[in-house]
Amino acid sequence: MELTLCLIKPDAVRRDLTGSILFMIQKAGLKVVALKMVRLDLNQAQGFYHVHRERPFFGELTEYMASGPIVAVVLAGDNAIKRYRELMGATDPTQADEGTIRKVFALSKQENSVHGSDAPETAAFEISYFFNAMEMVG
Ligand code: CMP
Repeated sequence: MELTLCLIKPDAVRRDLTGSILFMIQKAGLKVVALKMVRLDLNQAQGFYHVHRERPFFGELTEYMASGPIVAVVLAGDNAIKRYRELMGATDPTQADEGTIRKVFALSKQENSVHGSDAPETAAFEISYFFNAMEMVG
C-alpha cells in the first residue's frame, strides 16, 4: 500500500470539476484517505513548490496556485504514485493520453487541473504539507 498527494488545482475547482475528477480517481480504484479544501497564500504555494524555485515559471505557477481554492487529497493503493500519475496524464495537456484527467480537463501546461507526487520522498513531504496523522484515515 502506497500513499500519494493529489491536488485539484484552482482552474478545476473554479470550474466545479472537483466531483468529476474525484469520480475518475475512485473509478480507477484509488482510495481517498484524506481530503480538504484550502486556499494557499503565496508563501505557502512557494513552500509547496520549492523544488521548482529556479524555474522560469515559478512566479506565475505560485501566483496561479494561490489564485483560488484547491482541494488536497491523499490517495492510497498498491503502486498509487505511478497509477495516479498515469491517470493524470502528461503535464502539457496537448501531450496527454486520451482518457487522462489532464486530457479531459486541463487548459494549459500551467492550468493543468491536477498535481500528483512523483516519488515516495516527495509524496511524504507533500502529504505532510497539508495533513497531520489525525486527518488521515487508516
Ligand atoms: P505539477 O505536476 O503541479 O508540477 C509543477 C507544475 O508547474 C506543473 O504541474 C505545471 O502546473 C507547472 N509547469 C510545468 N511546466 C510549466 C511551464 N513550462 N510553464 C508553466 N507552468 C509549468
